[in-house]
Amino acid sequence: MADRVLITTDDLEQAVRVNAALEQAGFDTAMVSSLDDVRQAVRTREQGAGSREPDAIVLTGGLHETTGRRLVAAAHEHGVPTLGLVEATDETAETVAHELGLTAWLVKPADPGEVTATVRRLIERRRLQQRTGILGESAPIQEVLVKIEQIAPVTSTVLIEGESGTGKELVARGIHDLSPRRAKAFIAVNCAALPETLLESELFGHEKGSFTGAAERRLGRFELANGGTILLDEVGEMPPATQVKLLRVLEDRSFFRVGGTQPIHVDVRVISATNKSLKEAVGLSTFRDDLFYRLNVLSVYLPPLRERRSDIPLLVRTFITEFAKTHDRNFRGITPDAIQILADADWPGNVRQLKNLIESMVVLAPEGEIRASDIPRDIRERTRTLPVRIAAPPAPPSPPSSPSREVTGQELEFIFRTLVELKMQLEDLRGRIQERPAERVEVIEVGGGSRERGAGGGSRVITATVDPLDATPEPEQPVIYKPGMSMSDVERAAIDAALRETRGNRRKAAETLGIGERTLYRKLKEYAID
Ligand SMILES: Nc1ncnc2c1ncn2[C@@H]1O[C@H](COP(=O)(O)OP(=O)(O)OP(=O)(O)O)[C@@H](O)[C@H]1O
Ligand SMILES: [Mg+2]
Repeated sequence: MADRVLITTDDLEQAVRVNAALEQAGFDTAMVSSLDDVRQAVRTREQGAGSREPDAIVLTGGLHETTGRRLVAAAHEHGVPTLGLVEATDETAETVAHELGLTAWLVKPADPGEVTATVRRLIERRRLQQRTGILGESAPIQEVLVKIEQIAPVTSTVLIEGESGTGKELVARGIHDLSPRRAKAFIAVNCAALPETLLESELFGHEKGSFTGAAERRLGRFELANGGTILLDEVGEMPPATQVKLLRVLEDRSFFRVGGTQPIHVDVRVISATNKSLKEAVGLSTFRDDLFYRLNVLSVYLPPLRERRSDIPLLVRTFITEFAKTHDRNFRGITPDAIQILADADWPGNVRQLKNLIESMVVLAPEGEIRASDIPRDIRERTRTLPVRIAAPPAPPSPPSSPSREVTGQELEFIFRTLVELKMQLEDLRGRIQERPAERVEVIEVGGGSRERGAGGGSRVITATVDPLDATPEPEQPVIYKPGMSMSDVERAAIDAALRETRGNRRKAAETLGIGERTLYRKLKEYAID
C-alpha cells in the first residue's frame, strides 16, 4: 500500500506542485486546508477500522502562526514526521524550523524532487523507529536515528553514553537488529553487577576446576555472542584486570577461558554503554585510555529527556496505549493539563521513569483516564525525588571499603515494579471489598476459655460473623485456670489470648507475654497455632 502524505494548503501554489510531484512518485496524497482536518487525520489510528493515519505531513506555510505550531505538536504527538517549507525571505529559517520542532525543513521555493526525497527519507526513518521502538521526533533523537542507520552495517565498536533510562540498551539492540548480524545473538552483560573473578568467568568462560565451584566447563558471553553483538553495560565499572583482557579481545579477537590454555577466537561486535563520562574516568585513571579509544570508535550520545521535552507527549501517548493493552484496561487517554504537567517535569530517571509512572497510572487511575490529580505530587511540583544516583550519607565518612553506592536503573525499576504490584494488590483488595460489602468473614472460636481434649471432650464451637470493614477487636477474655487444665493448656490459652489482643501481631504478643519472639514462634509451632 502506498505511503500516505498530507499537504497543507496554506501556500496553495507550493501545495499543488508538491502534491503533483509526490503523486507521481507513487505516494497516496491528500491536501488539507485546516488544522481540524489534520487533527482528524492524525487521530484516525485511534478511531480504528478503515481509516489510515498519514505517514508524513508537508506544511507549505503558516509556520509563524499558532495553528502551525499546534499542527506540528499534534502530528508529533502521534509520531507523524513533519516537513516544513520555510520562507526564503526569512533570515532565521533555521531558527523557525528548530523552534517549531519540525522533523525536517526546506527553503521555498522548494524543488519538488527534493521534497519527494525528503519525504521518502522521513518515512524510512519512521519505519526504523517502528522497528526499533525508539520514539521521538525531536532533533536529538532524529540525529541518533541517523547515526544508528550509519553505524549498523559496519563492525566497528560503538560507545553509547547517556544518563540512566535514556534508552542506551534500546539503541544497542536497534543497532544489532539493523546489522547483518541480526540473525545471531545479542548478549548484554552488566559489568557493574559482578565482582572481578565472576565477571571474567562470565565474559570469557572457565575450564572445569579452574577455581572453587567451577565444576564444569562454562562458555563465556563472548563465545555465546560469536557472530553477533555483545553489549558491555556500565563498562566504566569494569575492574582494571578485566580491562586488560578486554583490550586483548579488541586487539586480536582472541582470549583464554579462565584456567584455559588454548586461545579462543571469536567474531563479536562490541557495543559498550555508560551513564558516567568515560573520558572523566580516564582522567581519574580508573579507566585505561587505550581501552577508551578502542571502545569509542563510533559514539552515540543520548540526551536526557528534559532536553527533548517535545518528545514527551508522544512517549506518554504511546505508553498509555501499550499499557492499556497489556493490562487489559479500557482506557480513554490523558487530559491536556495532565500532559502539560508531564511535559514540564524534570525526569531525572528519564524515559524509564516516565514509562514506569505511566504504567502505574494506567493501572490505578480510577476514571479510565489520566488526570492531573492522578499524577504524584512530586512530579506535579516538578521536583526531583527519584535521584538516579544515591550517594552514601556524608557523615560519618565512609571507609574506603564501602564507597558511595549507586542505585542502577534496573534496581530502581525493580523497586518500582514491586511498589506498583503492591499498589495493584491493594487496589484489587479494596475493589473486591467495595464490590461485596456484605461479604462476611467467618470466625470460629473454641469457646469457654477451656479446651478439653480428646473425643467427646465437649468443645463448644461459636460461629461469629464480622464485617471486614468494621471489624472490632474481640472483647477481652481473661485466661482462667480450670481444673483439669495442664500447664501447656494454660500456656496455649495465654498465647491465644495475647494474639487476640494484639490482633495477630506476633512481635507485640511476645512482648505482652514477656517472652522472646523466637520462643513464641517455637511455641506456636509446638501447639500448632497458626
Ligand atoms: N526513545 C525511546 N522510545 C521509547 N522507549 C524508550 C526510549 N528510550 C528509552 N525507552 C524505554 O525506557 C526504558 C529504559 O531504557 P534503557 O533500558 O534502554 O535505558 P538505559 O539507558 O540502558 O538505562 P540504564 O543506564 O539504567 O541501564 C526501556 O523500557 C526502554 O524501552
Ligand atoms: Mg541499560
